[in-house]
Amino acid sequence: MNFNIAVLPGDGIGPEVIAEATDVLQAVGEKFSHKFHFQNGLVGGISIDTLGTALSEETLSICKDCDAVLLGAVGGPKWDDPQAKVHPEDGLLALRKGLGLFANLRPVKVLPILVNSTPLKPEIIGGVDLVVVRELTGGLYFGQPKKQWQTPEGRKAVDTLVYSEAEVERIVRVGFELARNRRKKLVSVDKANVLQSSRLWRQVTTEVSADYPDVALQHMLVDTCAMRLIQNPADLDVVVTENMFGDILTDEASVLAGSMGMLPSASLAGIPKGRAFGMYEPVHGSAPDIAGQNIANPIATILSVAMMLRYSFGLEAEACTIEDATLSTLKEGYRTHDIWSEDTIKVGTKEMGEIIIRKIKS
Ligand code: IPM
Ligand code: MG
Repeated sequence: MNFNIAVLPGDGIGPEVIAEATDVLQAVGEKFSHKFHFQNGLVGGISIDTLGTALSEETLSICKDCDAVLLGAVGGPKWDDPQAKVHPEDGLLALRKGLGLFANLRPVKVLPILVNSTPLKPEIIGGVDLVVVRELTGGLYFGQPKKQWQTPEGRKAVDTLVYSEAEVERIVRVGFELARNRRKKLVSVDKANVLQSSRLWRQVTTEVSADYPDVALQHMLVDTCAMRLIQNPADLDVVVTENMFGDILTDEASVLAGSMGMLPSASLAGIPKGRAFGMYEPVHGSAPDIAGQNIANPIATILSVAMMLRYSFGLEAEACTIEDATLSTLKEGYRTHDIWSEDTIKVGTKEMGEIIIRKIKS
């Protein structure tokens, strides 16, 4: 089969980890007789420098014309000035909104062989295998009004937390669908003891649950969930929540895996059943401090490509091939610096990619 993929390397370590991920895709293509065509585009800081905008019409239309998008990372100190009119992150938000990517899937799996790379006790994080489903195109990030203004008493600012019934319904359905194919437990996270938007969220979620009698639904307040993630993370299966809560909880959850360098993500425009258009990116950022040194961990991006094969192309066996190759590379002791410990073998970005590719081919 033929697939068109928009490739947006972005800033910092983005280009380095993307290079390994596209090589992995080529290897999978050769093995399974698929053709992956790459179309490059600019986003983030590099786009600001070249075109004056964090996301150009051209890049957006390249993405729309493709079957999926692969993104590296955006941002860096060069573009951090809070007074600047445009920031690299604007490109990311515009992509999410412009492509209708409302469902962000962030799986966190603690591999037994990496159990000692995390700051938490092995008995707490052993067996952690959860996925956070974060609503990505609504809530505080996009609600209007959103502004700062001058008043006689000083400056004021407002952000708006708004959700419609339809927005809640489509994201919690994603949660239920995923849970149905996993351990059949869905935790819906809100702040219904305080927020109106959360009360609506809770009502709609309970209504939708009637369609999924096989999935056990539990409502949890966001502060409780923050605690559970550290106290008893292995108990969580699928967690669904709104945009801002999901942003915070997924950074917390990423600590469980030992390194951000291990975590993939998918942002989908539909339910992950059959094929959905999506954008795939590592959870980590552009890490400007280590850019260009061949030390970044490419695994998060490589596993993101596996998610692309699974959710956008329906290629389950191909996705598993990438995941198995990655796992067996780690089992043989190869580690990038972020997950390295004595008694393991330190390798660079390129070497890690090459070893995984060798395993895919074998
Ligand atoms: C993330 C990031 C983004 C977000 C930033 C860079 C805008 O933190 O993807 O989690 O807040 O969504
Ligand atoms: Mg975040």
